[in-house]
Amino acid sequence: MDAYQEPHLPNYMKDDKVTQETKSLMSSLPANKDFMGYGLYNYKGCWYYPNTLQAVLDVQKHFRPRNTDIILASLPKGGTTWLKSLVFAVVHREKYRENPQTHPLLSQNPHDLVPFLELELYANNQTPDLTKFPSPTIFSTHMHLNTLREAITKTSSPPCKIVYVCRNIKDTFVSGWHYRNMLHRTKMDEATFELMFNGYCSGVLLYGPYWEHVLSYWKQSLEDKKNVLFMRYEEIIEEPRAQVMRLAEFLDCPFTEEEEKSGSVEEILKLCSLRSLSNLEVNKKGTTRIGVDSNVFFRKGEVGDWKNHLTPHMAKTFDEIVECRLRGSGLVFQ
Ligand code: A3P
Repeated sequence: MDAYQEPHLPNYMKDDKVTQETKSLMSSLPANKDFMGYGLYNYKGCWYYPNTLQAVLDVQKHFRPRNTDIILASLPKGGTTWLKSLVFAVVHREKYRENPQTHPLLSQNPHDLVPFLELELYANNQTPDLTKFPSPTIFSTHMHLNTLREAITKTSSPPCKIVYVCRNIKDTFVSGWHYRNMLHRTKMDEATFELMFNGYCSGVLLYGPYWEHVLSYWKQSLEDKKNVLFMRYEEIIEEPRAQVMRLAEFLDCPFTEEEEKSGSVEEILKLCSLRSLSNLEVNKKGTTRIGVDSNVFFRKGEVGDWKNHLTPHMAKTFDEIVECRLRGSGLVFQ
């Protein structure tokens, strides 16, 4: 069977939305295949499936953020779903204070509340209606900062805020492995696990290499602290309260003393916890607007799950690659 005919394959992995212009661009780009044989193209240092590349180009060409917009950025499996819920809950907290039972996070998947630019909005539409979302509008993306920057710098508004979340490569990889098994509705074998591991090590994976992506946002967060916040999944797990308060401070909506005393931060953490979200009917069934089942985004949410899956050699290889690639940047993973 042609790989692209596989049932349940989300649109972003396919190649049927590519324009003639993009096809001709693709013919000049470095090409490769992911661990399952799906074609990847390297555009400005980052790997994309054909339809994802098309949407990324459309975001660059047409998306012009307003300075009140908030963009959440991450690598897939880096904590995107959690960040989307937390930011939505923090930013819109006043609206649902009186009637918490009407909170949209109880009835909609976080990915449908905070749309992906390239995986949803611009996936099949060069001029999506961006006015239908509540203000301030929260968008999300997996795009590398250098690619996103083309859109940001072309806007006439002052820069918008960007929040980046990252996670150590070993857990990101293992989470990605489970995700792909769920996506393809199969249990892939050990040989395929190794192929995917090799893809991560060489950087050939959607939005990879990992280190280039992380570094692009890390460097900008040092240069522009007012507009770019760098967060870590592990830190949110370790000190959730402090990290949510940091997030609110950065987004210019700090918790008041009264809110702190009345348990507002804890309420948000509870609402956005893996346990609460994954137990909601809306997140147990159905499909998100990017064409991926809603339940696929929730699994264990632990730090160090890689120990259950990687051989000591694989773990060491990841550590060495990341240490080498990040050397001198000030960014360190334990
Ligand atoms: P695991 O596969 O390690 O469990 P992304 O949202 O970027 O796709 O990342 C998915 C990972 O984040 C999964 O990790 C998932 O379980 C975890 N996750 C999703 N929602 C979460 C939440 N509310 N709190 C903590 N972790 C969450």
